[in-house]
Amino acid sequence: MNVIEVKGLTKIYKAQDFWKNDRVTAVRDVTFSVQKGEVFGLLGLNGAGKTTLMKVLLGLLKPTNGSVLILGGDIEDRAVRGRIGYLSELPYFPKYLKAREVLSYFADIFGIDEKIKKHKIEEVLKITGLDVRSDVRIKGFSKGMQGRLGLAQALLNDPELLLLDEPMSGLDPLGYKETREIILGLKKAGKTIFFNSHILSEVEKICDKVGVLHKGTMSEIKTVADIVKEHGDVEKYFVKIAGEN
Ligand SMILES: Nc1ncnc2c1ncn2[C@@H]1O[C@H](COP(=O)(O)OP(=O)(O)O)[C@@H](O)[C@H]1O
Ligand SMILES: [Mg+2]
Repeated sequence: MNVIEVKGLTKIYKAQDFWKNDRVTAVRDVTFSVQKGEVFGLLGLNGAGKTTLMKVLLGLLKPTNGSVLILGGDIEDRAVRGRIGYLSELPYFPKYLKAREVLSYFADIFGIDEKIKKHKIEEVLKITGLDVRSDVRIKGFSKGMQGRLGLAQALLNDPELLLLDEPMSGLDPLGYKETREIILGLKKAGKTIFFNSHILSEVEKICDKVGVLHKGTMSEIKTVADIVKEHGDVEKYFVKIAGEN
């Protein structure tokens, strides 16, 4: 089953100022799909259109053209939205709260039932390894811990599909490893994961399939195994596509 199905997707930003006539085509005629249980890595240089694509998948931005099916349905449908977890590019958490308090706040936003809320919070703290540090205030959190809290937040509604925008940015190699292990654990649990990252060595370790977005256009989607066979490693494949002008 295709968990994500995108056909001919184009997203054009129009200038905010009405007297200007600027248009930016951030995503151009993109077609691809992601199957249930797959880990899909979206690669691309800064400004390639990755965040825009992710926001369209989430329904935060409307496509200019083309169609998006998420879990077989429309992202505008609340029932479909409830089955997705999202980690934004720059998550922010209030510094004086503790992990449990932050998660309780998000659980309320998500409308998670009071009866299961406590249990859910403990579960996501455990999955992300934050259970032992959950009484520390966020201001005492390392970047890696903040990243894991972002993941914990994205997991609260027990989503089938996770969209993670740069889950490893700003982390150190230990943070990469922790994040990798969490993502692979989620894959094992049957989740579908769509994420983007600049850490190509991690992408190679984590992903089943990779697509390179270059100036809004998507490359052919390939399995990591095929990329390694044909190009040596993911970095070489990436440079081959994104290194062109
Ligand atoms: N709200 C916006 N209005 C106008 N242009 C935007 C907006 N958001 C992003 N862009 C432009 O769209 C392109 C893709 O941006 P983005 O999706 O953030 O790329 P990435 O996440 O790959 O770095 C860039 O040229 C960026 O300047
Ligand atoms: Mg981005």
